[in-house]
Amino acid sequence: MDTRALEVSLLNAKSLCVFTGAGVSQESGIPTFRGENGLWKQFRAEDLATPEAFERNPQLVWEWYAWRRELIHNAQPNAAHRALAQIESALSMKSDGRFTLITQNVDGLHQRAGSQNIILLHGDIWVLRCSACDFQRRDESVPLHPLPPICPACRSLLRPGVVWFGEPLPSADWTDATHAAEAADVFLVIGTSALVYPAAHLPQLAKQHGAQLIEINPERTALSSLADLFIQGKAAEAFASIQIHIE
Ligand code: APR
Repeated sequence: MDTRALEVSLLNAKSLCVFTGAGVSQESGIPTFRGENGLWKQFRAEDLATPEAFERNPQLVWEWYAWRRELIHNAQPNAAHRALAQIESALSMKSDGRFTLITQNVDGLHQRAGSQNIILLHGDIWVLRCSACDFQRRDESVPLHPLPPICPACRSLLRPGVVWFGEPLPSADWTDATHAAEAADVFLVIGTSALVYPAAHLPQLAKQHGAQLIEINPERTALSSLADLFIQGKAAEAFASIQIHIE
């Protein structure tokens, strides 16, 4: 895998925007959604990741999320998560440097690796929020007890703090993400099939506004033909082979 061109782009970037999907956590042992052994090959999204599914069978939905929380709890950030956190701190030393990480992942591995300026487009699996009132809290306990959890404020069911199919993205986060994409001179896409909208608009938006579009993925995606640089490979492997010295 030739990562020299990636190194050069990272070195010269002034406004770097990174957009990640499930593939960035694959080498940490977290399954992706659509690839080989992907979650949506084994489970039906309609049964587990929609507001209707939660209304029909909250116990089933919560058991699936509790299983995923346990998997993630036992996983560690990999070389790609760590490198992105390092790149962010190196760029923040530049007077005109700007770094934004936009992730579709709910696993929290970027935050555990030290990333700071991060937009969680699809929410956070470690947040529980009430299905009826405004109550929400962070809860990293594994296993979760009781299941399903109950809102202490109004006794309704708590739900996972993630965005389900058919739900809008948090609007302030979406606005911040579009601004970051428009301002980027380098837009780096890692480990997403780029099939889920509106998130998948962001690389196109960045490109329209003049960013260099770089993609890292072991397989070609809907985006690859648009990319200025396509690095065919796994994320952690790609970052393990590059040196990060941003002056
Ligand atoms: N490194 C980089 N990319 C990888 C790796 C790896 N080690 N392993 C797999 N990939 C790539 C796959 O080739 C695929 O293109 O990661 C991508 C994962 O795609 P999806 O499973 O579709 O995940 P994602 O794009 O994040 O899904 C978007 O869909 O179900 C919803 O809300 C969920 O946020 C998710 C959204």
